[in-house]
Amino acid sequence: MGKSAENIAVLGLQWGDEGKGKLVDLLSANFSNVVRFQGGNNAGHTVVINGESIALHQVPSGAHHPGCFLVIGSGSVLDFDIFHEELESLRKRGIDILDRLLLSDKAHIILPYHIAIDKWREGGSIRIGTTGRGIGPTYEAKAARHGVRVGDIKTSGLLEKIVTLYKETSLILGNSASLPTPETVSEKLLELASPLLNCIGNVHEYLYDAWRQGKSILFEGAQATMLDIDHGTYPFVTSSNCTIGGLFTGTGLPPKALNKVIGVAKAYTTRVGAGPFPSELTDSICEHIRDVGHEYGTTTGRPRRCGWFDAAALRYACRVNGVDALGIMKLDVLDGLERIGIVTAYKSKDGKLLHTPPSSIQDWEGMEPVVDYFDGWSAPTKGAKSWSSLPSQAQKYLKGIEKTVETPIAYVSTGPDREEGLFV
Ligand code: GDP
Ligand code: IMO
Ligand code: MG
Repeated sequence: MGKSAENIAVLGLQWGDEGKGKLVDLLSANFSNVVRFQGGNNAGHTVVINGESIALHQVPSGAHHPGCFLVIGSGSVLDFDIFHEELESLRKRGIDILDRLLLSDKAHIILPYHIAIDKWREGGSIRIGTTGRGIGPTYEAKAARHGVRVGDIKTSGLLEKIVTLYKETSLILGNSASLPTPETVSEKLLELASPLLNCIGNVHEYLYDAWRQGKSILFEGAQATMLDIDHGTYPFVTSSNCTIGGLFTGTGLPPKALNKVIGVAKAYTTRVGAGPFPSELTDSICEHIRDVGHEYGTTTGRPRRCGWFDAAALRYACRVNGVDALGIMKLDVLDGLERIGIVTAYKSKDGKLLHTPPSSIQDWEGMEPVVDYFDGWSAPTKGAKSWSSLPSQAQKYLKGIEKTVETPIAYVSTGPDREEGLFV
């Protein structure tokens, strides 16, 4: 198959773990470049090839296609320890990406001090249930203008910047003895980064040229709309813009460079960590979904909270991101359920009907979901490769999603493997 003539973004529409990794891996075969533009190793994107499951955290999910150039944009944050581990694990499988990798010199580095602050905050009064990877504090340092950037590795000012962060972290935590010294941190960083020095450069310039030369670009979102720092369920969110705007600030490309947005959602909903989740189930159906869908975090192993498909949140996410078409993942997990719900709206505690998620956390409290039920199906969808092979009830359910979300479905996934699914 030839390369795509369009640049496409794949974005999560729920609370993460929708199956972005699978879809990006699948589409990557048709793209010259795959780009991560925000987030860090809080992400866990699973790619399954011939039954082998591979979790990627910072490396773009196009890694398994030798013809794909891999880019990490300026909106990302990078933990070199974890990145090193990922490169090693790819190498063990015979995949070396160093000659097709570009790391933005403007991306920020996650240091042990950020991780220490993240963990300390999680022990305090506001528990977000973060992944504990130092993501929030790294973005805080960026906004405070004393972050350490990937490009700093190549300069003589690296140690001085690390010292500033060390001093501030010591003040916050009040116990510098538990922190590694700036010299140790700097030495380790230089050692880990030394094989990558040739991969550090100007992502804006690279992508601008690729765009102008018609070398197709696939943008891989991390996290998802409802975890977006501005448009998600604040404060129970991550610290970056996972919605469409983050793509442009996180690469330096203009909106004109993007042709299409594919929004990814599970055929139900999950969430890891604390925060509002109006369609959450706590009964045996939740257990069924968790067991069959293996709903445990790719990054932290925590059990995911499970619930019905939230069409009110999805419609909102489609509007925020300008989604052209949906990828609906994990339909097979619903096989065998007697009936399946779609949340079409919410009822607030004072009885008002809401068709879109509220802004404040207080308004989420006590909100009840309005659920439409669909008949389940007994014949399996697992592994289905064509629309016509889906049971009629499953087709009806998918049509119900399209109608309430007001967006067409382009892809339905019926299993974790590349082969399991269908383009509509
Ligand atoms: P991401 O963070 O959006 O890339 O998603 P994750 O990789 O964290 O979580 C999705 C999980 O669902 C992974 O374990 C995938 O292998 C798996 N998966 C993806 N699509 C399907 C599907 O259609 N059916 C089933 N059963 N599993 C799927
Ligand atoms: P992918 O890309 C699911 C959640 C955490 C927590 C909140 C803040 O695999 O979909 P953070 O460590 O980012 O400060 O945590 O966001 N979270 C995710 N949940 N999938 C992810 O990434 C997530 N990345 C962060 O559980 O609730
Ligand atoms: Mg994930």
